[in-house]
Amino acid sequence: MQMVTTVTALCQQISTYKKNGEKIVFVPTMGNLHAGHLALINHARICGGKIVCSIFVNALQFDRQEDLRAYPRTPKQDLEALRNADVDLVFMPEHSEVYAQQNRVKFPENPLNQQLCGKFRPGFFDGIVEVVTRLFYIVTPDVVVFGEKDYQQLVIIKQLVQDLGLLIRVEQIATQREADGLAFSSRNSYLDKAERKLAPRLYAELNNIKKRIEGGDRDFSALEKRGMKQLAKVGFRPDYVAIRDGQDLKVLRYDTDLIVILAAAWLGNARLIDNVLLPGA
Ligand code: PAF
Repeated sequence: MQMVTTVTALCQQISTYKKNGEKIVFVPTMGNLHAGHLALINHARICGGKIVCSIFVNALQFDRQEDLRAYPRTPKQDLEALRNADVDLVFMPEHSEVYAQQNRVKFPENPLNQQLCGKFRPGFFDGIVEVVTRLFYIVTPDVVVFGEKDYQQLVIIKQLVQDLGLLIRVEQIATQREADGLAFSSRNSYLDKAERKLAPRLYAELNNIKKRIEGGDRDFSALEKRGMKQLAKVGFRPDYVAIRDGQDLKVLRYDTDLIVILAAAWLGNARLIDNVLLPGA
């Protein structure tokens, strides 16, 4: 495995891969790798080609400085995990390397950036769109792999790829979970023992809503309100529970093929997000 920190070194290696006819499969991360990331990398391997992984804590997607400072950074363990996962190339740049060229790209506006998690984390998705676009232009991947855990991010990135007309295939993989249902997340490390015990109730509540919809309940607004109440009752501070179209996260229409139930809720210092999918019609 090779590790580079500059755009120049990265581009040199990528161009060697391309000259040899290799496909580039890219997995962007902010480090502090867990089983969820390793599942993305395993999927990248199935896609074939060279696996390129980035570790970059993107300051632009943090609305609070203390959140950025507190974000877990474990570079030594991350590099070890990537080596064991047979990643070919790791890009681990400084902030100035990624953001050296200011204001060179106009990023497409997307109202979805301001909804759901975007409403509670101002600038969050604009920061993600900016870094992901920059990384896509630097890495020039053929395929990128993202997880369904960050469902809104996934939808926004798929739209971005379309808006920019990029020839990139976006692969998505199912949320990876602990045995008790809690989705893997770097933020789980903020949970104390009691909060960790409670945390799987978020996924459980999403599944309760799913069962009600499968049972024929179509009063989505009442289901969202009930979900909020239930989460608060067991000890969460929910930001939202939302039932949306799984393709574009718009308010549900009757001909929807895919429904997604999403929630974000605080437990102590950890803001947990999760979602479940179910067929529409
Ligand atoms: O999902 C993440 O880890 C980040 O939002 C991403 C896509 C690497 C951009 O910083």
